Amino acid sequence: MTTLRVHRLALIGFGTVGQGLVEILQSKQAELAGRYGVQFHVVAVSDLLKGSLYHPNGLDLNALLNTVRRTGRLDDYPAVPGLQRGWDSLTTIRHSNAHTVVEVSWTDVQTGQPAISHVRAAFEAGKHAVLTNKGPVALAYRELADLAVARGVQFRFEGTVMSGTPTIRLARQALAGCDILEIKGILNGTTNFILTRMEEGHSYADALAEAQRLGYAEADPTADVEGWDAAGKAVILANVVMGGSLRVADVDRTGISGLTQEDVAAARAAGERWKLIARVWREGGAVRASVKPTRLPLSHPLAGVGGPINACTFTTDLLGEVTLVGPGAGRIETGYAVLGDLLDIVARP
Ligand code: HSE
Repeated sequence: MTTLRVHRLALIGFGTVGQGLVEILQSKQAELAGRYGVQFHVVAVSDLLKGSLYHPNGLDLNALLNTVRRTGRLDDYPAVPGLQRGWDSLTTIRHSNAHTVVEVSWTDVQTGQPAISHVRAAFEAGKHAVLTNKGPVALAYRELADLAVARGVQFRFEGTVMSGTPTIRLARQALAGCDILEIKGILNGTTNFILTRMEEGHSYADALAEAQRLGYAEADPTADVEGWDAAGKAVILANVVMGGSLRVADVDRTGISGLTQEDVAAARAAGERWKLIARVWREGGAVRASVKPTRLPLSHPLAGVGGPINACTFTTDLLGEVTLVGPGAGRIETGYAVLGDLLDIVARP
């Protein structure tokens, strides 16, 4: 008989992605136990706005989801012996018995905070960290990666680029041994969704509201439409995959907020389509990046990538071009990114 390993999680943030992850864990519990011999216990959830819960033996996933769906907060979670309420994020990270801190709070790609402090605290407490929050990886990758190595813990962030579509794993693991010369693609689901809806005749404002409702947009959607989110992802790819040392401010960035319905119609009339294209490339000894609305002919492979789908072409020295297409945003899609990282962590000896 195989023994089940228990792996305890503390969720920092309980918005779209955190709830998506809990839904996945709830529906796949038996499968994860059977296929991977692991049982994930969510011992803590700490959210700045919704409240905070900790139980060393694990929280009830049904009760967690029901409570937050019904009230938007965690206060009404049923009282059980040993339940601790009200711990702030750093107390949760330092004093819970979690093996892994799951950082799924909102992204601030300008300062990276408070998520950078959360990840530092996790590593200093000897805990692994899994992030979908782009801030710490875009702004402090090297420092945090070095700290994780020094503390002997894992630093995982697949969900920071193209949600659960395994972009970082593809580049770092599947393409190991190739030199990546250029990366080019559509890295923001919200703007791609908006552009697709505008082509269908919807207004920019309606399309953005729909993207927010569907859980694609950032808490502050300015980050999406002004290109900051795609710029953060370009920096992550530049620094993690191509060995660059870019800052978000170094990215030559333009968003889509200046595009009008007339611009979209004019492109369509010319047999073209607007896409927000992110590009990372080598120039001299440096790695550079840009994010720009670009008109592509309909025959271009990226022109057919619509809605919240993202795509990314890696140009390599040994394989030529390798293109990955898949979901770029969404509750379950991004929750899945965390699951993939967690399974990778528990598979390690
Ligand atoms: N707001 C982001 C997007 C979420 O639309 O792509 C996924 O990173």
